[in-house]
Amino acid sequence: MARCVLLLATMFLAGVLTTTAADWNIMNQRTRTKSGLQITLKNYCESWRMNVELNNIRDFTVVPAECTSYIGKYMSGTQFKVDSEATIDECTLYLNTLVDLKNDGKDAWIFDIDDTLLSTVAYYKKHDYGGETLNVTGLEEWMTKGKATAIDYSLNLYNYIKKRGIQIILVSSRREHLRAATIDNLLDVGFYGWKSLYLRGVDDECKTVQEYKAGVRSELINNGYRIWGILGDQWSSIRGVPTARRTFKLPNSLYYVA
Ligand SMILES: *[C@@H]1O[C@H](CO)[C@@H](O)[C@H](O)[C@H]1NC(C)=O
Repeated sequence: MARCVLLLATMFLAGVLTTTAADWNIMNQRTRTKSGLQITLKNYCESWRMNVELNNIRDFTVVPAECTSYIGKYMSGTQFKVDSEATIDECTLYLNTLVDLKNDGKDAWIFDIDDTLLSTVAYYKKHDYGGETLNVTGLEEWMTKGKATAIDYSLNLYNYIKKRGIQIILVSSRREHLRAATIDNLLDVGFYGWKSLYLRGVDDECKTVQEYKAGVRSELINNGYRIWGILGDQWSSIRGVPTARRTFKLPNSLYYVA
């Protein structure tokens, strides 16, 4: 319990530091970097987004107010799709060239759910594209409706992996009480035939998501699985030990899950 409180305090502090660090002159939309280089708001926000993807910027609680418009355009536009499809192409290339399947029922691949298989962009669109502090109750209400759309290129990869005879393991930071809604939503948009679906139980609530997901991998490996790859949209899905033979991260600058 004390550990949870400490964790929340750390997250809060990180949030305050991130938001006060943004020093943008909205009026003329131009500013300078520390070295004096004059840049546009777009330069600034693109750099913020890139450093989120590089995992240099961590634990942000909201997208900086001056960048929500830029992030919204990116996450709902063509570039995001192009970047994401390039990730999927690398997964396919790896599967076709470097993976030596044994086909003994122990070859496995891990997927995240949110913003890996199912899109939550429609929810965040209504909440200033990550500019509002996350309301877990509101997000879970939205998830309960089971209306999240499939990410089509991920569905293609999912079906390809299934066809290759690899066991599909879904590991999500969604909580256990969302199990029925999550299964309905997945089936409804075309995802079926997974081997297991891990959601966060009450025992996992005091762990970070990274610890919880590494724990699942540990269990899988102890059960003899070879985890060939992970596809996720958060660093917490792919960091920590044990890991997979390869990991692939989709872009997501709407929110950060530690
Ligand atoms: C969070 O969402 C719930 C459900 O939509 C709503 O009742 C509540 O007022 C929201 N809380 C805040 C702080 O906005």
